Amino acid sequence: MQPIADRNFDALVTPTKLHRSLYTDPTLFELEMQRIWGQAWIFIGHESQVPEPGDYFTTHINHNEPVVLIRDKNQAVHVLHNRCGHKGAKVVENRSGRARGALRCAYHGWTYRFDGSLQKVPNEKGYEGTGFDATDPCYSMQPVARVDSYRGFVFASLSHTAPDLIEWMGGARACFDNLCDRSPEGEVEVAGGVLRYEHACNWKFILENLNDTMHPMVVHESIVKAAEAYIATLPPEAAEQRKEAEIIPPFGASYEKFEDSGITGFAYGHHYDGGKTSIHSAYSVDPDYHEAMLAAYGEQRTQDILGFNTHNVLFYPSLTIKCAVQNIRVIRPISVDRFIVESWSFRLKGTPESMLQRTLLYSRLINSSMGMVGPDDLEVYRRAQTGLASSASDWVEFHRQYGKDQVLADRVVGGGTSDLDMRTQYRAWKAYMEGSMQGLPDHG
Ligand code: FES
Ligand SMILES: [Fe+2]
Repeated sequence: MQPIADRNFDALVTPTKLHRSLYTDPTLFELEMQRIWGQAWIFIGHESQVPEPGDYFTTHINHNEPVVLIRDKNQAVHVLHNRCGHKGAKVVENRSGRARGALRCAYHGWTYRFDGSLQKVPNEKGYEGTGFDATDPCYSMQPVARVDSYRGFVFASLSHTAPDLIEWMGGARACFDNLCDRSPEGEVEVAGGVLRYEHACNWKFILENLNDTMHPMVVHESIVKAAEAYIATLPPEAAEQRKEAEIIPPFGASYEKFEDSGITGFAYGHHYDGGKTSIHSAYSVDPDYHEAMLAAYGEQRTQDILGFNTHNVLFYPSLTIKCAVQNIRVIRPISVDRFIVESWSFRLKGTPESMLQRTLLYSRLINSSMGMVGPDDLEVYRRAQTGLASSASDWVEFHRQYGKDQVLADRVVGGGTSDLDMRTQYRAWKAYMEGSMQGLPDHG
């Protein structure tokens, strides 16, 4: 590998090429954890995961930062560093649960209120006259620097200087609105369990793949053909089976169809494909659901909500959402060649059970480690990780439709088969790595 200066990110990311060390260099991975994952707003969880005081959910912001999402007795939701103020032990070990009364460290029994403040130190007498002050906030479970939520989706940032969450989300925020507005009550809640899927490759592969519309008809060809053959055998009355099978063939859509869907990029690395149309547009709609939407919103607004069809939306770098199927995937890096994807499903409040069943079906079919689509993607990421260890070339290219992106006031738009998504992500990657945060490009 050619030596490249550690901080010369212009040499690692050009407008049309990436250096392969972005996927293979452990030092660069550590820098990414500090500068991207240590600055950006990282998705933590949904408020519906902690409905009652004392309910908690644990995760980590980057590979080194365990945190706990918890609801306090006044119903406020906190994101705390999961570290004891005494000698540093991780306080909450379980993935989720309901604490009674207080959080208690398993080492020396210090207890904490649900807002993180220190409640009690055992055998306090030994501290008398030592200068130890139990009310000093330095002994609390520390709050993460910035915490905010949007329509129940809780984000946290390790950076005190991060822009406000709303500003950071920019125009991509409309996708959270669309996901929630698909409920006649305007609210969603986590339903069912989580599908947790470890990937033996660099975390950026899955982000690059989300709006990569040049791959589905190749990578997913075999399952699309099998699904089409199965659908051809279904009699007209097999509506249930058709509804299940219809999820697969759109993954084999043509280049033209994907091109029409377009890609839209925003500041800070966010983007989505689709809008007017996506591979989810043609799913059949439960008539009872349609009725409930009409009753809540009226004809025009219902059409507007159901007509905004994105495919994958990325909130760079930790969260991707699918509005039309009420499913999200959460990215958690572990090392330069390992990360975890968590797939969560949501219920649209006030809708028939069939809507949740389709969401769960989609998650099982597409996102699970036993699914029919996600494992195809992992196989090609794994091959890319292997191939990029080769000294044959130092570069990965992304020229597609370069120079044709249209720069608008708050977004960049372009063809659905373009590499606009790569340009959007790596503009942000470079800005974060250089220590700044990312606005829109000022050139065409
Ligand atoms: S490390 Fe937690 S109580 Fe001592
Ligand atoms: Fe794919």
